[in-house]
Amino acid sequence: MATVHMIAGLFFFTLAFIATSFGKPAADRDDESYDVDHSGQLWQTRARRAHAQSRTVPTDQERTPDYWTNMARASIDEALRLQTLNTNVAKNVVLFLGDGMGVSTVTTARILKGQKAGNPGEETVLAMDSLPYTAMSKTYNIDAQVPDSAGTATAFLCGVKAEAGVIGVDGRTRYGNCSSSKGHEAESIIVHAERAGKSTGIVTTARVTHATPAAAYAHSAARGWEADSDLTAEARENNCTDIAYQLVEEAPDIEVILGGGSRMFKPRSWADPETGGSGDRNDGVDLVQRWQDRKTGRSRYVWNGTDFRDVDPESTDYLLGLFERSHMKYTADRTDDPAEEPTIADMTRKAIEILRKNDNGFFLLVEGGRIDHGHHASKAVKALEDTVAFDDAVQVAKDMLDTSDSLVVVTADHSHTLTFAGYPDRGHPIFGQNVYTSSTPDNTWDELPYTTLLYGNGPGYALVETTNGNDTQVTRQNITDVDTADKEYEQQSAAPLRSETHGGEDVIIMADGPMAHLFHGVQEQHYIAHVMMYAACLGEYTEHCDKPIGTPKPVGDAGPAARGSYYTVALTTVLSGLLMMAATRL
Ligand SMILES: *[C@@H]1O[C@H](CO)[C@@H](O)[C@H](O)[C@H]1NC(C)=O
Ligand SMILES: *[C@@H]1O[C@H](CO)[C@@H](O)[C@H](O)[C@H]1NC(C)=O
Ligand SMILES: *[C@@H]1O[C@H](CO)[C@@H](O)[C@H](O)[C@H]1NC(C)=O
Ligand SMILES: *[C@@H]1O[C@H](CO)[C@@H](O)[C@H](O)[C@H]1NC(C)=O
Ligand SMILES: *[C@@H]1O[C@H](CO)[C@@H](O)[C@H](O)[C@H]1NC(C)=O
Ligand SMILES: [Zn+2]
Repeated sequence: MATVHMIAGLFFFTLAFIATSFGKPAADRDDESYDVDHSGQLWQTRARRAHAQSRTVPTDQERTPDYWTNMARASIDEALRLQTLNTNVAKNVVLFLGDGMGVSTVTTARILKGQKAGNPGEETVLAMDSLPYTAMSKTYNIDAQVPDSAGTATAFLCGVKAEAGVIGVDGRTRYGNCSSSKGHEAESIIVHAERAGKSTGIVTTARVTHATPAAAYAHSAARGWEADSDLTAEARENNCTDIAYQLVEEAPDIEVILGGGSRMFKPRSWADPETGGSGDRNDGVDLVQRWQDRKTGRSRYVWNGTDFRDVDPESTDYLLGLFERSHMKYTADRTDDPAEEPTIADMTRKAIEILRKNDNGFFLLVEGGRIDHGHHASKAVKALEDTVAFDDAVQVAKDMLDTSDSLVVVTADHSHTLTFAGYPDRGHPIFGQNVYTSSTPDNTWDELPYTTLLYGNGPGYALVETTNGNDTQVTRQNITDVDTADKEYEQQSAAPLRSETHGGEDVIIMADGPMAHLFHGVQEQHYIAHVMMYAACLGEYTEHCDKPIGTPKPVGDAGPAARGSYYTVALTTVLSGLLMMAATRL
């Protein structure tokens, strides 16, 4: 085996040498010679592979054609099974929102999850990967090519696209202008679900007043108006209220609220038991106390992991948990002390346990809110560890809910500038480096390594000046000896920015359960709210109400034709009833 490797290695190395001799940095990417150089690079990469000491991949299994054929056959069988559509009414709907979870984030988190389990990584199937229906979501705001999280949350929760930065208001509202929001409020799926007698819940790792959760219950011309101290003079004059106040005093009766952001609910005089920090409220109101006073009976407020675990879902109908003054901790920053704060999977489980007691079903929003923050900081470890934790929460919902009556949707509000590139070997550490090997066009011409994960812009822009005599050179930082898998490491970027930005390309929607097949093709983002409402028979979507909720038909016995016959029966019954009434009157 070793001999074979050596011979193969020599062979590839010779080819690589020949290719390299012709290689030089390609300035013109359309130049035909580029293709030649490019293939040289691939040979050269393979030469490196052949030299690799102990390779666990590809596995013997993966070298066997039958392995791939059998896998494809199983996938075809699964796809054929999906031809029988699940047209039930969705009693329950869970929307998982990975904030900033673009496609490159999903792929790299998948590899991370696999590598954490000791596998090469690429072959891993995330919980979200296993949802069978997908669509692409166009994320722009009506005034922004690359969107923000408030305008996008308004789209996928309230069903209308709006300006960037606004919460739960339609496109007639101008960002930051309170008076322009009056009369232009948009109702979210939570409002419709509560109106239909369902229970509702919000779980987030960000502040519960942050953009994504806020759009589920508040109406605000600016996402930043989280506490009263954030309101502008114009907003106060025109009686706009802050987002925390709306959650407790004006929003629908949400049963479960779990996340961070206690400072938005507490007066200045308050001292956080964990940090000693103060509240943000100038009005002196303790909104947590107000919530507790209002929710008499089976309600509970918790602020730490110990109390959270003690909450008995059977005897608790309302649960408010605010575990940090601001956002909850990054997964990568958590200690092993579960008394601190629950994971997103823990919160999802508890929320479902409480909400599912309602015979009318529930709507639950679960946000992985800090994936976005990890990316903004250009700390890929933090972003991806939070994505893996988010996927664990998806698994919890999959385990607890039945696809016959529960629609599970996983999507992102927008992407980020994260790229995943180079020609790393299979199973290469996802936070690793593409090492400089020789001057071919696909290798760096500054002869410096680069990480497989890079950002288009952000704080990781790292040029260094080196002086040699009178000669001063500006180069990228040499990261050869840097631990790029450290959670505080900032991946390099092309443009310097204090905070890396969102990305504007489409994001993916993944779904399973009643009407999940409506997620297909390339859609505008606000379509998500409409499909969830259609599936659950909420708001204006009453045409799907031909079956009593809670007694779903078995999956697959009915298509549109069968649904048509339901209508016929219903219509006939109503008509004959009317005729009989008319007859008795006459
Ligand atoms: C705010 O909106 C109102 C109502 O649409 C409008 O009359 C006013 O001019 C706007 N103010 C600014 C500063 O744009
Ligand atoms: C704001 O509320 C006060 C008190 O209810 C009221 O007198 C005033 O007219 C309101 N202002 C606007 C612009 O609605
Ligand atoms: C959790 O909160 C409860 C209620 O305030 C408190 O009694 C308890 O000491 C806290 N536990 C920890 C570990 O902070
Ligand atoms: C460096 O710059 C100084 C001042 O301009 C000059 O006198 C000297 O010759 C230069 N040295 C070299 C090695 O170019
Ligand atoms: C980068 O650093 C490594 C290790 O210190 C060193 O071997 C290498 O020569 C450096 N590369 C460049 C281009 O300076
Ligand atoms: Zn963001």
